[in-house]
Amino acid sequence: MQFDVVIVGAGLAGLRAAIELEGRCAVFSKFYPNLSHSTEAQGGINAVLDPVDKTENHFFDTVKGSDWLGDQDKIDILVQDAPRVISEMQEWNVSFSQTNQGQVAQRPFGGQNFNRTCFVADKTGHALLSGTLAKAREKDIQIFSEWFVTKIVVQDGKAVGVVALELSSGKFHSVACKAVLLATGGAGRVYGRTTNEKNTGDGIFLAFEAGAPIMDLEFVQFHPTTLFGSNKLMSEGARGEGGYLRNKNGERFMKNYAPDKMELAPRDVVARAITREILAGRAFEDEYVHLDLTHLGKEHVLEKLPQIREIALQRTGKDMISEPIPVQPGQHYTMGGVATDADGKTGVPAGLFAAGECACVSVHGANRLGGNSLLETLVFGRRAGRAIRDYVEGQSFVGLPADAANADASFRDALFKRYEGEKVADVRREMGAVMDRYVGVLRTEKSLMEARARLAEIRKRFQNVFIYDHSHAFNNDLVAAFELKGMLKLAEIMVEGALMRKESRGSHFREDVPGRDDEKWLKHTLAFKDDDGIRLDYKPVTVTTLPPQKREY
Ligand code: FUM
Repeated sequence: MQFDVVIVGAGLAGLRAAIELEGRCAVFSKFYPNLSHSTEAQGGINAVLDPVDKTENHFFDTVKGSDWLGDQDKIDILVQDAPRVISEMQEWNVSFSQTNQGQVAQRPFGGQNFNRTCFVADKTGHALLSGTLAKAREKDIQIFSEWFVTKIVVQDGKAVGVVALELSSGKFHSVACKAVLLATGGAGRVYGRTTNEKNTGDGIFLAFEAGAPIMDLEFVQFHPTTLFGSNKLMSEGARGEGGYLRNKNGERFMKNYAPDKMELAPRDVVARAITREILAGRAFEDEYVHLDLTHLGKEHVLEKLPQIREIALQRTGKDMISEPIPVQPGQHYTMGGVATDADGKTGVPAGLFAAGECACVSVHGANRLGGNSLLETLVFGRRAGRAIRDYVEGQSFVGLPADAANADASFRDALFKRYEGEKVADVRREMGAVMDRYVGVLRTEKSLMEARARLAEIRKRFQNVFIYDHSHAFNNDLVAAFELKGMLKLAEIMVEGALMRKESRGSHFREDVPGRDDEKWLKHTLAFKDDDGIRLDYKPVTVTTLPPQKREY
């Protein structure tokens, strides 16, 4: 097979890029596009639409939200392009929730000083994806669903193809191309308690293996309100619509942590506050607090938050219209990822690009604001598509080596020969438990050292994994083994970056070094593959107009 451009991932970033490339690309995706993680985004997408609001305000809120680790030149691009994105989505038939006057409604979201989050009830990602997918279909973009990319082929410093496992046949295929765009989402499944159903960090691992730098992976977002028991997302929209957080004494405890913003402080602040309430013995069953929407009224909940009401009802039997629901922080978003410029270019290898959650542009820095991730996918997916269009002009196809798929086929064959050992699911569960416990909302050097040691043990166990299913067609066990191999590496990068970063910034909170240290740590972490290990390096943060300030809410 041969295409000018291979896009890996059929969520919003991948499809938006594909629309720029039209017939010159093929999209390869583990899932059907309408099952991509983008559809799970609930609460909204930020844009300055009200004339009273200003893009400067969106810029300020995002930089402050990022705890000054976001690159300000890229944040500027994000906020400037946002209003256009909303118009484009409307042109593509996305029906945003409206005000009584027929304008796009905007709800308050965490860490922002204006009602700036456009939404489609609490199904915003689903609506945006539907519109974008319909546009991609209109342009006849080839989408290979249920194909799992296992390798980027690099020759002479250039990305020249991929190896992909066709899930229906179990065959590995070599696919030649002139450029590769990774748009596979984040790495949430590295954790046990996560809102992510699917994000296994595949693209980040592929890029790492291909020699690209991985940036700021120690910055992991914990969403404050995930449903106790299942960690299903209970959208920030619930607090945007006026929901309260209460501890077991019935107290709205956010007044003790963020008196100005209360429940609408940024996610890192709220997640830490809940964690502190749990540690102080003020949580229910020492595990969760209450998200209380009972004062909002039935009509309001049914109109604005129908999906999360349904999910909470199914999972807990509690109807948020009439009773509070149990919530706790859970992994939600990967701020770090494949380091790129503003056009998705990694630079190493040439011809490798990334966009969306798997990329680190970086517009979110140490803490992403809710509503900025959907925006990022559409702004930077489009830019990547355009940049790739230009890049491939001067490139030609290179014949792929006959043995391109050998290493992946050998990994599979070794698994097929084994009939006992460690179960993939057990190893994966153990990794998740270690990350939850030792690399969570609060970290210390001691906890991170413990994580490092335990992950080393888990990696040894992985050498001995086996899978029950030795058939070729739709072998999900095999895919899970590939995914786990990558996630173990990403977990290691997260821990190493977190151990080295001796400060607290945004979502990375070190109890043993609780302050932010701009003198030493106003810089991005870069992780490189090095003789099968990891080498860390650093690069400066781009500060254009907003020098670091104290961050209070
Ligand atoms: O809470 C939410 O609805 C999630 C939104 C986001 O992550 O941007």
